[in-house]
Amino acid sequence: MAFLSDTLARVKPSPTIAMSGRALELRAAGQDIISLSAGEPDFDTPAHIREAAKAAIDAGHTRYTAVDGIPALKQAICDKFARENGLDYKPSQVSVGTGGKQILYNALMATLNPGDEVIVPAPYWVSYPDMVLLAGGTPVFVSCTAEQGFVMSPEALEAAITPRTKWLILNSPSNPSGAGYDRAAMQALTDVLVKHPHVWVLADDIYEHLVFDGFEFVTPAQVEPRLKDRTLTMNGVSKAYAMTGWRIGYGAGPELLIKAMAKLQSQSTSNPSSIGQYAALAALNGPQDYIAESRAAFQRRRDLVVAGLNTCPGIDCPTPVGAFYVYPSIKDLLGKTSAGGKVIENDEAFANALLEETGVAVVFGAAFGLSPHFRISYATSDAELTDAIARIKGFCEGCR
Ligand SMILES: Cc1ncc(COP(=O)(O)O)c(C=O)c1O
Repeated sequence: MAFLSDTLARVKPSPTIAMSGRALELRAAGQDIISLSAGEPDFDTPAHIREAAKAAIDAGHTRYTAVDGIPALKQAICDKFARENGLDYKPSQVSVGTGGKQILYNALMATLNPGDEVIVPAPYWVSYPDMVLLAGGTPVFVSCTAEQGFVMSPEALEAAITPRTKWLILNSPSNPSGAGYDRAAMQALTDVLVKHPHVWVLADDIYEHLVFDGFEFVTPAQVEPRLKDRTLTMNGVSKAYAMTGWRIGYGAGPELLIKAMAKLQSQSTSNPSSIGQYAALAALNGPQDYIAESRAAFQRRRDLVVAGLNTCPGIDCPTPVGAFYVYPSIKDLLGKTSAGGKVIENDEAFANALLEETGVAVVFGAAFGLSPHFRISYATSDAELTDAIARIKGFCEGCR
């Protein structure tokens, strides 16, 4: 009898975590490493949020709470959806979990049966396919190339839908490409979805506030109200308020789904951290200045990184509208040999050679389901970014 489960055998460890691990090993061995592989803001959580958490501890909010969130936080989430997205939800339609990640996981675990399909546009966030597999479903990938701006066309969506399709996962702005669906592009997709009432929509809006150049963020249930009763609108405080470690995410959708997710959570983790919930309450209800400040900082860094990368021979870097990633192509480097003698056979070979020869850690595109690319997270200091780009440029210039 095998000790480990068959379910576990279906999934692979996170490639982004593996890359960060290699970078850490090389750093521990004394090498000068710049890691551009982490998916989190490098800023501190704003002071008023930290103070609210300390006050929550002192006020004794240190016990179990309602399984899927304290009423005050659920109300704050409803207020946020009304204020920022024009969406009207009741607290009974809201679920709070240990990060947006748990919300996605709960939704898939609570709904997927063997053979159920989940449409995942590629490039995708590394966790979607494996979460679908863990839940017993089948991911169906739709390739969205750089030429298509990394966004899915309505025709491609239509072609991917089958009678077994249960969910479409839509992440705008996207990790890893930074691409976003503007209102017209979103409407084109929702027009298709309206025709297929058995397909549910999982909108991952975690990068909602990180949009640049005046890009208007929209979410499917807002653009097409007829989809609202089959949409889970997921969001969280991790990226919006530099709160990745606090582990609070949330989702809103029909009560049937929200209740099923709460049932699952009641038998796994129970409530998300009580202190994290009070911190998230302060984040959503308090001053919102941090959002504009971080957006401006990330836009400046995006511009620095895109301009810098486009001076590197063999790299072509589109300008993303959001998140804090760029997803350049290395098509023109394929088949070349690095100064250190490594053949750039694919994007994984590129990332490995880059790390070994320059100390810059990036994540290769195959991990996100679209090659030949690599992802840079520019959520790090301007000085580190400038240094990293100089090293990448040197590496590319050395390729023959
Ligand atoms: C696209 C996307 N969705 C969801 C998450 C999960 O965020 P959290 O669990 O911190 O709320 C991440 C984090 O990297 C992400 O990139």
